[in-house]
Amino acid sequence: GTRLIIDTDPGVDDAFAIGLAALSDDVELLGVTTVFGNVPLETTTLNARRLLELCGRPDVPVAAGADRPLVHAQLDRAAHVHGADGLSGRSHTLPEPTRPLESSDAVSLLVSLIEAADGPVTLAPIGPLTNIALLLAAHPGVKAKIARIVIMGGGLHHGNSTPAAEFNIWSDPEAARRVLVEEDVPCVLVPLDLTHRCAFDSAWLGKLAASGPLGATLKSLTAEYLAHYRTELGFDGIVLHDAVAVAEAIKPGILVTETYPIEVDCGFGAARGATVADRRLKPGGGRTVDVALDTDLDGLRAFLLTRLAGTR
Ligand code: BDR
Ligand code: CA
Repeated sequence: GTRLIIDTDPGVDDAFAIGLAALSDDVELLGVTTVFGNVPLETTTLNARRLLELCGRPDVPVAAGADRPLVHAQLDRAAHVHGADGLSGRSHTLPEPTRPLESSDAVSLLVSLIEAADGPVTLAPIGPLTNIALLLAAHPGVKAKIARIVIMGGGLHHGNSTPAAEFNIWSDPEAARRVLVEEDVPCVLVPLDLTHRCAFDSAWLGKLAASGPLGATLKSLTAEYLAHYRTELGFDGIVLHDAVAVAEAIKPGILVTETYPIEVDCGFGAARGATVADRRLKPGGGRTVDVALDTDLDGLRAFLLTRLAGTR
């Protein structure tokens, strides 16, 4: 199975992504590292530990990472999307974690897990890219053992934090640029262009809830998130951005990718945090990134449901 480490800022869709990895028996979930993002670091860290407990996975170590961006400390939260506690006001209903938080920081845990692994490791960052940028900058030796970095982030045609920028990239554009442009590790980018096409509607959530107590708990975490997507964005259902990326991390090829050189705008104009793909007939060169732009949407919904419902 895939050796996987998730770097996350839970977050409702992060919760589904963690559940997907934690409940898939063909995945070796080596660890989870946390980052600031949707809500402050202390909250994302406690949420990640509670979610692993919920999934019956106290064997998975959790370490906390960056509490702010690398350079420019504009801290835009997404509490209006995920609730003040990151989980629609329901985090207190999750089991208390039995496993203590690692005493080491996220980057140290990443290095030791990657070095100790029997083979290449896949990283799935589903929050701001701060921890991953720090890892690659401070420990270039680990790159040889990274199979792929499957990133939820960016948008080729639109953003969500700003007209141009998607939340994870907007939260730390300099870190994103380090990972996607300056480094040369195989990366898959799962942007809004694809995640927004894949709504999970109330019928899907109903089936998840009917699958058992765990499914019902996961559904209960979507209340505020659902309201945000419905009432503010007029969307029929929820969007599980991060779970789409983790699906690709654990089942390579489930998403259809196109390969382009990418730039990340780190200026201070209207395009700060934008991900710009060079889609010209004759691209300018530079390293490329695989951008996930298509999938069998019904197949993906079924894949997530089977795994989260534990019916496989
Ligand atoms: C991303 O931003 C966060 O709010 C979500 O958890 C996801 O990682 C979507 O833009
Ligand atoms: Ca996230």
